[in-house]
Amino acid sequence: MRLESVPSAQHQPAAPPALDTDEFRRIGRLAVDLVADYLAGIRDQPVVQPMTESGRRAVAQEEFPEHGAAPEELLTHFARHVLPYPMGNGHPRFFGWVNSPPSHMGIIAEFLAAAQNPSCDVGDLASIHLETAVTRWLAELVGFPADTGGILVSGGSAATLTCLAAARQQVAERLDWDLGRDGLQDPSRPRLRLYASAEVHSSLRKSVELLGLGHSAVRTIAVDADRRLDPDDLDRAVREDLANGDLPFCVVATAGTVNTGAVDRLDALADLCARHGLWLHVDGAYGAAAALLPELGEVYRGLERADSVSLDPHKWLSVPIETGCALVRDAALMRRTFSHVPPYLMTEQNVGIGGTLDYAEYGFQQTRGFRALKTWMTLQHMGRDGLRTLVRRHLRLARRLAELVDAADDLRRMSASPLSVVCFRYVPPGDPYTAQDLDRINRRLVADVQTDGRVFLTGTVLDGTYVLRACVLHHSTTEDDVTALVSVVREIGRGIAGKAGQA
Ligand SMILES: Cc1ncc(COP(=O)(O)O)c(C=O)c1O
Repeated sequence: MRLESVPSAQHQPAAPPALDTDEFRRIGRLAVDLVADYLAGIRDQPVVQPMTESGRRAVAQEEFPEHGAAPEELLTHFARHVLPYPMGNGHPRFFGWVNSPPSHMGIIAEFLAAAQNPSCDVGDLASIHLETAVTRWLAELVGFPADTGGILVSGGSAATLTCLAAARQQVAERLDWDLGRDGLQDPSRPRLRLYASAEVHSSLRKSVELLGLGHSAVRTIAVDADRRLDPDDLDRAVREDLANGDLPFCVVATAGTVNTGAVDRLDALADLCARHGLWLHVDGAYGAAAALLPELGEVYRGLERADSVSLDPHKWLSVPIETGCALVRDAALMRRTFSHVPPYLMTEQNVGIGGTLDYAEYGFQQTRGFRALKTWMTLQHMGRDGLRTLVRRHLRLARRLAELVDAADDLRRMSASPLSVVCFRYVPPGDPYTAQDLDRINRRLVADVQTDGRVFLTGTVLDGTYVLRACVLHHSTTEDDVTALVSVVREIGRGIAGKAGQA
């Protein structure tokens, strides 16, 4: 039947989930205004504010309505009950965990991507080619070749899981071990071992458990005074395991630890891995972005020799959550790790809509979101020089924070990092307190600062000691914000110590 001969449908008013074009435009504009006002006024808001009981009820306990609501009502509901209770990472005085604000072009790209809503697995589609472009850029950023296997995933945890699956595949292939068929069930096989420092991110444990290796397969290696994995201790552990009949196969190094921003000695680790035939994975979820700075060349030397790297655009690059990237130097191996294409998903390369690349063969997901657009728009908007400027700004602010901490008689700095994390502790002058008292005061301090709302930071434990931890990642944070962080911490710390002293 030719198209002209198809009787045209009577125009029907749009019904949910659709909107008429004019209504879509009107609601869309209201949403853009809402977001623009929110972003413009964010400094005047608390970084976070605790939810109220009625607010919680309004969000969590609402019933699934029998009848649909008007779109404008939904925007009002969002503005009243959701927008005032953010995580805080959009605020320039947020120094928590490793969470950046969303780039403005990333926010817009989320909207545009949702409008097209492709599944980014296979096809000769612009969305697929965009992912190829951005993963190539990220591969280049860490010094990997252009034909690296790269895929966008939900974040650093998923990236590490993806890369370690490839590492496991490589060692299995070496042993003629059909992992896809037999899994890790064969007791006649040697025990696989991998190595990381105690500073490695907790997602490593989840990955090795999911991969069937068990977390007892991970040997924890000592760190040096700068909290970097000690290559000599690693060498000893590998030799010991070999002597015991185990099979060392992978070292997980970190470029930017979550605790202190330490960057492992990647070049020495790459040498060691080459000597022992081990896979080198570098968790650069947070820190790999700083490899772009020539002045940090020495710190990052060896990153380009890794077998795989995880790098999160949703951390330092400010791409909206969820955007991680798994980079595996050997793209063919990566494909063998994940490829399983049933007939109903098969396309012929370059025939019809068939593309040359099927991302579902390079990772776990089949239907995949259009993460590439927000990454592409954010990176295009910044350019390499914009990204360098952003990272340098954060490094400068972190140094300034360290100086302010060092100058305060009631603060003690607890870490030194080449990146944008500063760990410190509130230690009341005179110090009549035990180590446990100080831990208690500092834990309380973090909780009180967080609910106070003027600034936000988090805590961690270093060598058994609880410390305050601040990470600079916001594009609009200024020196005044860093100064405010220090003065709020000291003010609240004085209050807590005063009460503790009276008790
Ligand atoms: C060094 C490092 N690796 C991995 C992760 C996990 O990343 P995600 O939370 O995106 O899964 C983080 C998160 O902060 C991290 O800092």
